[in-house]
Amino acid sequence: MFHRALFSILAFLATAYAYIWPSPQLDELESARFDQKGSNANALSGFLPSCDSFVFGANTGRSNAADWIRTAYHDMATHNSTDGTGGLDASIRFAEEQARAENAGDGFANTMTAVGVQVSRYISNADGLALAAVMAIENCGGPEIPFRGGRIDATEPNAPGVPEPEQDLDSHIAAFARQGFTQTEMISLVACGHTFGGVQHDPFPDIVNVLNDTTDTEDVAHFDSTFVTFDNNVATEYISGTTQNPLVVGFNDTTNSDKRIFGSDGNITMLSFSNSPALFASTCADLFARMIDTVPSGVVLTDVITPLPVKPSDVVLTMNGDVLELSASVRLWNTTDTTSSVSMLWKDHIGGTGNNTMRFSGLSSSTGGKYSAAWYSVFSGTIANFLSLDPTAGITSMSFLVDGQLEDQNGLGFAIQDGFMLSKTSCQIEPFVSARFDVAVRNGVNATRVYLEQITTDTLQRVVVVEIDIPPPSQPVAINSAYSLWSVNVTNPNVPYAIGAEIDGIKYSTTALYIVTGFPSCST
Ligand code: HEM
Ligand SMILES: *[C@@H]1O[C@H](CO)[C@@H](O)[C@H](O)[C@H]1NC(C)=O
Ligand SMILES: *[C@@H]1O[C@H](CO)[C@@H](O)[C@H](O)[C@H]1NC(C)=O
Ligand SMILES: *[C@@H]1O[C@H](CO)[C@@H](O)[C@H](O)[C@H]1NC(C)=O
Ligand SMILES: *[C@@H]1O[C@H](CO)[C@@H](O)[C@H](O)[C@H]1NC(C)=O
Ligand SMILES: *[C@@H]1O[C@H](CO)[C@@H](O)[C@H](O)[C@H]1NC(C)=O
Ligand SMILES: *[C@@H]1O[C@H](CO)[C@@H](O)[C@H](O)[C@H]1NC(C)=O
Ligand SMILES: *[C@@H]1O[C@H](CO)[C@@H](O)[C@H](O)[C@H]1NC(C)=O
Ligand SMILES: *[C@@H]1O[C@H](CO)[C@@H](O)[C@H](O)[C@H]1NC(C)=O
Repeated sequence: MFHRALFSILAFLATAYAYIWPSPQLDELESARFDQKGSNANALSGFLPSCDSFVFGANTGRSNAADWIRTAYHDMATHNSTDGTGGLDASIRFAEEQARAENAGDGFANTMTAVGVQVSRYISNADGLALAAVMAIENCGGPEIPFRGGRIDATEPNAPGVPEPEQDLDSHIAAFARQGFTQTEMISLVACGHTFGGVQHDPFPDIVNVLNDTTDTEDVAHFDSTFVTFDNNVATEYISGTTQNPLVVGFNDTTNSDKRIFGSDGNITMLSFSNSPALFASTCADLFARMIDTVPSGVVLTDVITPLPVKPSDVVLTMNGDVLELSASVRLWNTTDTTSSVSMLWKDHIGGTGNNTMRFSGLSSSTGGKYSAAWYSVFSGTIANFLSLDPTAGITSMSFLVDGQLEDQNGLGFAIQDGFMLSKTSCQIEPFVSARFDVAVRNGVNATRVYLEQITTDTLQRVVVVEIDIPPPSQPVAINSAYSLWSVNVTNPNVPYAIGAEIDGIKYSTTALYIVTGFPSCST
């Protein structure tokens, strides 16, 4: 009985809070996945201003959304389910893979450029690519796709294996089987993908002629009449015999792969999609999720990322002499209410508490507008958007009072690490090729290491974090009665730095990234 009761409580907690904040990787994945438009919009959304836009050239019949989905499929399509090699691992970012005939066109290079803006120490190129596909589908009329993170970037190109239109049906059935999909799933996944975009003349001159159409100057023959949105027209037009799909009614039957694939079960699957937009959408949601979750063996994905109902964001602590400055925002999920009563309450090291009436700071939305969120930020009462705390009291955890309801992660609170933070005495050393980082470390905290984390990119376009140890000061350098400074000079001013510390054996990092060219001069 006891165990059953405990289990139910845990199950309830798991529903209410997907994970315990803070969790650097999950916080960032959750944000990338659910903060898509408006406040704190993810960087990737800048490349998808609308579904009919093509940001890499004149908008002439192409769409970014289509490229993102095709790229995710081609990256996954190298998977061999027998030996677990290949899969969605961003190996398509390598020029060698892009140069293969099976990857004809510039869509892969374009997509990986866009994905690059979302990549971070916590989000791989492969996660960014999976997210791009999810955003394209969801924001352009498609169903919601369960999204997981944790993909690992390949370090070299995968073996070839993307299906090509001139191959015969048996080859395609075998290729999809190798990728882990049955024949019915092959029919479905091709239809799900080919509700977007089309075939371009340039990379496929033997399939599509010059169209001589001023509204389609890149000569793209579309798979269905609604090529920038997800819908079942790819099936209805095919079944009704009105389709213009160049892989069904192309002038050269050898390359009519969609015709062979769609008809390979006597049209049963395509007929069911033609009859039911809902069945098409739910089938595609399942298969797209399986597509992006097809990863090399050994890669462990996170749980499906679900939104935190109340999520702190942009929590930054900075030491300014005798004042501990705290800025913070909170995101309230599933609301567009700009007039909620929101207070941040906090606890400190000396048994005290504080509270601040937060102010509305913006709205955001995601998943094609299906979800909305409202953002509130701390406000000091003047123009500043940070609070001034007493360093001795410090801060240990936050909670929020939202329209009278306490939000504290079921009693845990939202923990804050104030053991270390940037000191505003940090400065640039003239002639500005180096800078001094001053880190304020709380006296009495068991900080066995304090270090900078220099965030750079390696030759394989992976984000790497280089730790630069800050030697403990030989004599304590007090900044105030509760904190001392640890200092180090850095000579690479053009990359972002986070600050890290190992406290009681646990590693922590600031979520804030610091660019030292923004520091004041040391000599003023
Ligand atoms: C036998 C399997 C497949 C073949 C032979 C095939 C073939 C093609 C070809 C030749 C193009 C034209 C590319 C261009 O001109 O840029 C294309 C476009 C596309 N394919 Fe496939 N495809 C297959 C499966 C899939 C699957 C499973 C998906 C996704 C789930 C997919 C998604 C797309 C998308 C979204 C486009 C449009 C790209 C754009 O307009 O930029 N394809 N496909
Ligand atoms: C997939 O892997 C198995 C086991 O290594 C191998 O025998 C098979 O040839 C591979 N398939 C392809 C298409 O490369
Ligand atoms: C393209 O269209 C223009 C105007 O209709 C016409 O003069 C020209 O001959 C066409 N070119 C081709 C290759 O069809
Ligand atoms: C049809 O396409 C195939 C494969 O690309 C090619 O070998 C063949 O020459 C084409 N036939 C015609 C009539 O264009
Ligand atoms: C599938 O449907 C299309 C369109 O009605 C038709 O042209 C084709 O012959 C059908 N294929 C099969 C295998 O029944
Ligand atoms: C979102 O909020 C509305 C009320 O504002 C509520 O009816 C609905 O159930 C909520 N949806 C979710 C997914 O929480
Ligand atoms: C907030 O602080 C004020 C004093 O500054 C206090 O009167 C009030 O009770 C506090 N509210 C909460 C919810 O702690
Ligand atoms: C940083 O560089 C300055 C100027 O060269 C030097 O005076 C200072 O001692 C250095 N500080 C540390 C912590 O190395
Ligand atoms: C400090 O943390 C280290 C690493 O966990 C531990 O070995 C050490 O005992 C701690 N020291 C104190 C004084 O707690």
